[in-house]
Amino acid sequence: MSTPIPPHSAPPVLEVEELRTSLGSRRGRGNVVDGVSFSLSAGETLGIVGESGSGKTMLGMSLLRLLPRAAQIVSGSIRLDGRDIVGCTVAEMRDIRGAEIALIPQDPMVSLDPLFRVGTQIAETLRAHKPVAAGQAMSEAVELLRRVNIPDPELRAQAYPFEMSGGMRQRVVGAIGIACTPKVLIADEPTTALDVTVQAQYLALLQRLQRETGVALIVITHDFGVVAQICDRVAVMYAGRIVEQAEVGRLFDAPAHPYSRALIEASAAMANEGGGRRFPSIPGEPPPLFGRGEGCAFAPRCAFARDRCRREAPPQTSAGPAGHAVRCFYPLEGDAR
Ligand SMILES: Nc1ncnc2c1ncn2[C@@H]1O[C@H](COP(=O)(O)OP(=O)(O)O)[C@@H](O)[C@H]1O
Ligand SMILES: [Mg+2]
Repeated sequence: MSTPIPPHSAPPVLEVEELRTSLGSRRGRGNVVDGVSFSLSAGETLGIVGESGSGKTMLGMSLLRLLPRAAQIVSGSIRLDGRDIVGCTVAEMRDIRGAEIALIPQDPMVSLDPLFRVGTQIAETLRAHKPVAAGQAMSEAVELLRRVNIPDPELRAQAYPFEMSGGMRQRVVGAIGIACTPKVLIADEPTTALDVTVQAQYLALLQRLQRETGVALIVITHDFGVVAQICDRVAVMYAGRIVEQAEVGRLFDAPAHPYSRALIEASAAMANEGGGRRFPSIPGEPPPLFGRGEGCAFAPRCAFARDRCRREAPPQTSAGPAGHAVRCFYPLEGDAR
């Protein structure tokens, strides 16, 4: 099992090793996150791409230890600045969450309370983690709104979420995300609710905040355009596993996993047709969560699958340059397209 070495030279702020999260329901039990390993350095941006249901959000929620009741981390480690947070208590996690690792959820309305003014909500986040007086917290909240490009921040701090546009609400949750200068910030599908112009502005904002604070970013997305625009490295998820990870240019040029290659080819075809920003679709269906077999989860859809692929799950191995790793017995070589 080789954990790829990130191209950045700084020691990793986040090291995830063999993380496994299982989810149970009346229909059965399955691993929504299934042996995920990666590491991330300060100032680095990792994209996580994959079809809907591949476990991207569950991975993000696992890293924050914010899983729904039905799901638990069953094995593996999450080292944040050297400390394994899998063993942390609920109270310890309350201090760590927001202050050291923060998440901007998929839908900003979920994290904003409709009944409170946005300034108050940012100020409360600050006060949950440091001893500041209410007045001081409110002026810091106004400054944070200014940093995320909210016009008239003094006035806007008094607004309720419903009084703001989608783009502005997204920036408010961004402000909450960076309020306590976390070391790791996870943005789950940061652009799905936004139109293309607002999307580009929001990505530029995330990049600026990263330059200013050195935060390590994890961007969960189904949009290869977002990956190309802001990520240094990318991890492709399939059925709870990272099937390939590499530096972005390398993955686009020489994808080694048949799934990554199919996605990149479909995505290039979509772009040529001037198609929108959907996730590229490939033939077949992802496996159900319950009752996944022993072999490679992609084998039933894979044009290159052999008997071994249906019997055994491939381990993660190196695919050439440092940082390029793949979970495939028969990785592809040569250029995509
Ligand atoms: N609250 C939940 N209860 C039960 N199953 C869930 C819940 N959330 C997600 N799942 C299941 O977990 C798997 C991973 O989902 P998710 O992490 O949301 O995928 P993604 O974010 O990649 O679209 C899917 O099979 C999904 O149906
Ligand atoms: Mg999701």
